[in-house]
Amino acid sequence: MSTHISEPVPAAGSLKRVTVPAVRARKGGTPLVMLTAYTARTAELLDPHCDILLVGDSLAQVIYGLPSTVPVTLEMMCAHGAAVVRGAAHSLVVIDMPFGSYEMSKEQAFANAARILKETGAAAVKLEGGAAMAETIAFLGARGVPVMAHVGLTPQAVNALGGYGARGRSAAEADKIVGDAQAVAAAGAFAIVIEGVVEPIAVAITESVACPTIGIGASARCDGQVLVAEDMLGLFTQTARFVKAYGTMAAGIDTAAARYAADVRARVFPGLEQTYQPKN
Ligand code: KIV
Repeated sequence: MSTHISEPVPAAGSLKRVTVPAVRARKGGTPLVMLTAYTARTAELLDPHCDILLVGDSLAQVIYGLPSTVPVTLEMMCAHGAAVVRGAAHSLVVIDMPFGSYEMSKEQAFANAARILKETGAAAVKLEGGAAMAETIAFLGARGVPVMAHVGLTPQAVNALGGYGARGRSAAEADKIVGDAQAVAAAGAFAIVIEGVVEPIAVAITESVACPTIGIGASARCDGQVLVAEDMLGLFTQTARFVKAYGTMAAGIDTAAARYAADVRARVFPGLEQTYQPKN
Protein backbone atom coordinates (compact mmCIF):
# COMPACT_ATOMS: atom_id res chain seq x y z
CA MET A 1 0.00 0.00 0.00
CA SER A 2 1.47 3.36 -0.95
CA THR A 3 1.23 6.23 1.52
CA HIS A 4 0.82 9.78 0.26
CA ILE A 5 3.21 12.11 2.04
CA SER A 6 0.47 14.49 3.26
CA GLU A 7 -1.68 11.77 4.82
CA PRO A 8 -1.51 11.43 8.61
CA VAL A 9 -0.18 7.98 9.56
CA PRO A 10 -2.20 6.20 10.77
CA ALA A 11 -5.19 7.97 9.22
CA ALA A 12 -7.01 9.88 11.98
CA GLY A 13 -10.38 8.50 10.93
CA SER A 14 -9.30 4.96 11.86
CA LEU A 15 -8.60 5.87 15.49
CA LYS A 16 -11.03 5.97 18.42
CA ARG A 17 -11.02 9.17 20.46
CA VAL A 18 -8.99 9.07 23.66
CA THR A 19 -11.13 9.50 26.78
CA VAL A 20 -10.50 11.10 30.17
CA PRO A 21 -10.49 7.68 31.96
CA ALA A 22 -8.02 6.39 29.36
CA VAL A 23 -5.69 9.31 30.11
CA ARG A 24 -6.03 8.73 33.85
CA ALA A 25 -5.19 5.04 33.33
CA ARG A 26 -1.88 5.96 31.68
CA LYS A 27 -0.30 6.81 35.06
CA GLY A 28 3.15 5.22 35.09
CA GLY A 29 2.65 3.77 31.59
CA THR A 30 3.72 4.84 28.12
CA PRO A 31 4.24 8.62 28.33
CA LEU A 32 1.31 10.77 27.22
CA VAL A 33 1.96 12.96 24.17
CA MET A 34 0.29 16.37 24.30
CA LEU A 35 0.68 19.38 22.00
CA THR A 36 -1.22 22.62 21.70
CA ALA A 37 -3.47 23.26 18.70
CA TYR A 38 -5.56 26.33 17.90
CA THR A 39 -6.81 25.67 14.36
CA ALA A 40 -8.60 22.84 12.57
CA ARG A 41 -5.84 22.09 10.05
CA THR A 42 -3.07 22.04 12.64
CA ALA A 43 -5.21 19.79 14.82
CA GLU A 44 -5.76 17.45 11.88
CA LEU A 45 -2.00 17.18 11.26
CA LEU A 46 -1.01 16.72 14.92
CA ASP A 47 -3.91 14.47 15.91
CA PRO A 48 -2.57 11.07 14.80
CA HIS A 49 0.62 11.60 16.79
CA CYS A 50 -0.93 12.81 20.05
CA ASP A 51 -2.99 11.52 22.94
CA ILE A 52 -4.15 15.00 23.97
CA LEU A 53 -4.52 18.26 22.08
CA LEU A 54 -4.59 21.31 24.31
CA VAL A 55 -6.30 24.45 23.09
CA GLY A 56 -3.99 26.52 25.24
CA ASP A 57 -4.50 30.14 26.16
CA SER A 58 -0.96 30.49 24.79
CA LEU A 59 -2.91 31.33 21.63
CA ALA A 60 -2.61 34.84 23.09
CA GLN A 61 1.02 35.10 22.02
CA VAL A 62 1.07 32.53 19.20
CA ILE A 63 -2.06 33.59 17.29
CA TYR A 64 -2.96 37.06 18.52
CA GLY A 65 0.44 38.63 19.24
CA LEU A 66 -0.65 39.57 22.75
CA PRO A 67 2.00 40.12 25.44
CA SER A 68 0.54 37.56 27.89
CA THR A 69 -2.40 35.21 28.36
CA VAL A 70 -4.21 37.66 30.67
CA PRO A 71 -6.36 39.33 27.92
CA VAL A 72 -7.68 36.03 26.50
CA THR A 73 -11.48 35.76 26.44
CA LEU A 74 -13.96 32.88 26.64
CA GLU A 75 -15.07 33.77 23.11
CA MET A 76 -11.53 33.18 21.78
CA MET A 77 -11.24 29.85 23.59
CA CYS A 78 -14.65 28.67 22.36
CA ALA A 79 -13.97 29.63 18.73
CA HIS A 80 -10.54 27.98 18.60
CA GLY A 81 -11.71 25.04 20.71
CA ALA A 82 -14.54 24.24 18.30
CA ALA A 83 -12.12 24.44 15.35
CA VAL A 84 -9.72 21.98 17.00
CA VAL A 85 -12.50 19.53 17.86
CA ARG A 86 -13.56 19.64 14.19
CA GLY A 87 -10.00 18.94 13.08
CA ALA A 88 -9.13 16.14 15.53
CA ALA A 89 -10.72 12.70 15.42
CA HIS A 90 -8.45 10.81 17.82
CA SER A 91 -6.95 12.97 20.57
CA LEU A 92 -8.70 14.05 23.75
CA VAL A 93 -9.26 17.80 23.33
CA VAL A 94 -8.72 19.89 26.47
CA ILE A 95 -9.49 23.61 26.53
CA ASP A 96 -7.86 26.21 28.76
CA MET A 97 -10.19 28.29 30.90
CA PRO A 98 -9.00 31.89 30.40
CA PHE A 99 -7.91 34.21 33.21
CA GLY A 100 -10.92 35.65 35.04
CA SER A 101 -13.34 32.93 33.94
CA TYR A 102 -13.06 30.58 36.96
CA GLU A 103 -11.33 32.20 39.95
CA MET A 104 -14.26 34.17 41.43
CA SER A 105 -16.36 31.19 42.58
CA LYS A 106 -16.92 27.52 41.85
CA GLU A 107 -20.31 28.47 40.40
CA GLN A 108 -18.67 30.92 37.97
CA ALA A 109 -16.19 28.20 37.03
CA PHE A 110 -18.97 25.67 36.38
CA ALA A 111 -21.02 28.07 34.24
CA ASN A 112 -18.02 28.94 32.08
CA ALA A 113 -16.68 25.37 31.87
CA ALA A 114 -20.14 24.17 30.82
CA ARG A 115 -20.24 26.85 28.13
CA ILE A 116 -16.83 25.74 26.84
CA LEU A 117 -17.85 22.07 26.68
CA LYS A 118 -21.23 22.89 25.05
CA GLU A 119 -19.87 25.30 22.43
CA THR A 120 -16.77 23.29 21.46
CA GLY A 121 -17.60 19.62 21.90
CA ALA A 122 -14.36 19.17 23.88
CA ALA A 123 -14.30 16.70 26.79
CA ALA A 124 -12.31 18.57 29.43
CA VAL A 125 -11.00 21.92 30.61
CA LYS A 126 -7.69 23.00 32.12
CA LEU A 127 -7.27 25.65 34.77
CA GLU A 128 -4.27 27.11 36.56
CA GLY A 129 -3.68 27.08 40.30
CA GLY A 130 -3.10 24.73 43.19
CA ALA A 131 -4.70 24.38 46.61
CA ALA A 132 -6.76 27.55 46.08
CA MET A 133 -8.50 25.83 43.14
CA ALA A 134 -9.05 22.43 44.80
CA GLU A 135 -12.64 23.14 45.88
CA THR A 136 -13.50 24.36 42.38
CA ILE A 137 -11.95 21.27 40.77
CA ALA A 138 -13.97 18.98 43.06
CA PHE A 139 -17.15 20.98 42.32
CA LEU A 140 -16.63 20.71 38.55
CA GLY A 141 -15.70 17.03 38.73
CA ALA A 142 -18.84 16.20 40.71
CA ARG A 143 -20.89 17.91 37.98
CA GLY A 144 -19.42 16.15 34.96
CA VAL A 145 -16.59 18.51 34.03
CA PRO A 146 -13.21 16.75 33.93
CA VAL A 147 -10.42 19.12 34.97
CA MET A 148 -6.74 19.06 34.07
CA ALA A 149 -4.84 21.15 36.63
CA HIS A 150 -1.73 23.30 36.01
CA VAL A 151 0.84 24.04 38.74
CA GLY A 152 4.34 25.51 39.05
CA LEU A 153 4.84 28.34 36.59
CA THR A 154 1.28 29.49 35.94
CA PRO A 155 1.45 32.08 33.14
CA GLN A 156 -1.92 33.67 33.96
CA ALA A 157 -0.32 34.81 37.24
CA VAL A 158 2.54 36.60 35.46
CA ASN A 159 1.63 39.92 37.05
CA ALA A 160 1.89 38.40 40.52
CA LEU A 161 4.95 36.24 39.75
CA GLY A 162 6.81 39.08 38.01
CA GLY A 163 7.98 36.97 35.06
CA TYR A 164 8.25 33.53 33.50
CA GLY A 165 11.31 32.20 35.35
CA ALA A 166 11.47 28.65 36.72
CA ARG A 167 9.64 28.15 40.00
CA GLY A 168 10.60 26.27 43.14
CA ARG A 169 14.19 27.36 43.68
CA SER A 170 13.63 27.88 47.43
CA ALA A 171 12.63 25.02 49.73
CA ALA A 172 9.48 26.89 50.78
CA GLU A 173 8.37 27.45 47.18
CA ALA A 174 9.18 23.85 46.27
CA ASP A 175 7.06 22.58 49.18
CA LYS A 176 4.22 24.90 48.14
CA ILE A 177 4.22 23.59 44.55
CA VAL A 178 4.28 19.93 45.67
CA GLY A 179 1.44 20.70 48.11
CA ASP A 180 -0.52 22.45 45.34
CA ALA A 181 -0.22 19.41 43.07
CA GLN A 182 -1.26 17.03 45.83
CA ALA A 183 -4.28 19.22 46.63
CA VAL A 184 -5.55 19.31 43.03
CA ALA A 185 -4.94 15.57 42.65
CA ALA A 186 -6.93 14.88 45.83
CA ALA A 187 -9.70 17.15 44.48
CA GLY A 188 -10.04 14.90 41.43
CA ALA A 189 -7.96 16.48 38.68
CA PHE A 190 -7.55 13.77 36.02
CA ALA A 191 -4.07 15.01 35.07
CA ILE A 192 -1.72 17.78 36.15
CA VAL A 193 0.46 19.97 33.94
CA ILE A 194 3.68 20.85 35.76
CA GLU A 195 5.32 23.86 34.11
CA GLY A 196 8.72 25.47 34.64
CA VAL A 197 9.91 23.94 37.90
CA VAL A 198 13.27 22.65 39.07
CA GLU A 199 13.34 18.96 38.19
CA PRO A 200 13.18 17.32 41.67
CA ILE A 201 9.80 19.01 42.23
CA ALA A 202 8.34 17.37 39.12
CA VAL A 203 9.72 13.99 40.21
CA ALA A 204 8.35 14.38 43.75
CA ILE A 205 4.90 15.29 42.40
CA THR A 206 4.89 12.48 39.84
CA GLU A 207 5.78 9.95 42.53
CA SER A 208 3.20 11.20 45.02
CA VAL A 209 -0.02 11.72 43.02
CA ALA A 210 -2.33 9.08 41.57
CA CYS A 211 -3.10 10.94 38.33
CA PRO A 212 -0.68 11.42 35.41
CA THR A 213 1.61 14.44 35.38
CA ILE A 214 2.41 16.19 32.10
CA GLY A 215 5.63 18.15 32.08
CA ILE A 216 6.71 21.30 30.27
CA GLY A 217 10.07 22.47 31.53
CA ALA A 218 9.73 19.84 34.26
CA SER A 219 11.20 16.32 33.89
CA ALA A 220 11.34 13.35 31.50
CA ARG A 221 10.10 11.35 34.49
CA CYS A 222 6.65 12.97 34.26
CA ASP A 223 3.89 10.73 32.90
CA GLY A 224 3.77 12.78 29.69
CA GLN A 225 5.07 15.91 27.99
CA VAL A 226 3.51 18.96 26.37
CA LEU A 227 4.91 21.73 24.19
CA VAL A 228 3.36 24.60 22.31
CA ALA A 229 3.17 23.12 18.80
CA GLU A 230 4.58 26.21 17.10
CA ASP A 231 7.61 26.10 19.43
CA MET A 232 8.10 22.41 18.66
CA LEU A 233 7.78 23.14 14.93
CA GLY A 234 10.38 25.92 15.00
CA LEU A 235 8.10 28.87 14.23
CA PHE A 236 9.76 31.07 16.85
CA THR A 237 13.45 31.82 17.10
CA GLN A 238 13.37 33.01 20.72
CA THR A 239 11.89 30.40 23.04
CA ALA A 240 12.09 29.23 26.64
CA ARG A 241 14.98 26.96 27.65
CA PHE A 242 12.63 23.97 27.86
CA VAL A 243 11.62 24.12 24.19
CA LYS A 244 13.15 21.73 21.68
CA ALA A 245 12.44 22.55 18.04
CA TYR A 246 11.79 19.47 15.91
CA GLY A 247 11.05 21.48 12.78
CA THR A 248 12.17 24.58 10.91
CA MET A 249 8.83 26.24 10.25
CA ALA A 250 10.09 29.85 10.40
CA ALA A 251 12.77 29.14 7.78
CA GLY A 252 10.26 27.23 5.64
CA ILE A 253 7.79 30.14 5.67
CA ASP A 254 10.55 32.66 4.96
CA THR A 255 11.86 30.68 1.98
CA ALA A 256 8.39 30.05 0.55
CA ALA A 257 7.31 33.69 0.95
CA ALA A 258 10.54 34.90 -0.68
CA ARG A 259 10.06 32.54 -3.65
CA TYR A 260 6.42 33.64 -4.04
CA ALA A 261 7.38 37.34 -3.89
CA ALA A 262 10.11 36.83 -6.49
CA ASP A 263 7.71 34.97 -8.82
CA VAL A 264 5.06 37.70 -8.48
CA ARG A 265 7.58 40.46 -9.18
CA ALA A 266 8.93 38.57 -12.21
CA ARG A 267 5.37 37.87 -13.49
CA VAL A 268 6.17 34.14 -13.36
CA PHE A 269 3.21 33.50 -11.07
CA PRO A 270 0.47 32.79 -11.95
CA GLY A 271 1.62 30.52 -14.79
CA LEU A 272 -0.43 28.64 -17.34
CA GLU A 273 -1.31 25.93 -14.76
CA GLN A 274 -2.79 28.49 -12.37
CA THR A 275 -4.87 30.46 -14.89
CA TYR A 276 -8.16 29.70 -16.66
CA GLN A 277 -7.80 29.70 -20.43
CA PRO A 278 -10.73 29.93 -22.86
CA LYS A 279 -11.98 26.47 -23.99
CA ASN A 280 -11.52 25.85 -27.73
O1 KIV B 1 -1.53 27.57 27.20
C1 KIV B 1 -0.73 26.65 27.01
O2 KIV B 1 -0.24 26.43 25.91
C2 KIV B 1 -0.39 25.80 28.15
C3 KIV B 1 0.68 24.78 27.96
C4 KIV B 1 1.97 25.40 27.70
C5 KIV B 1 0.73 23.80 29.06
O3 KIV B 1 -0.96 25.94 29.18
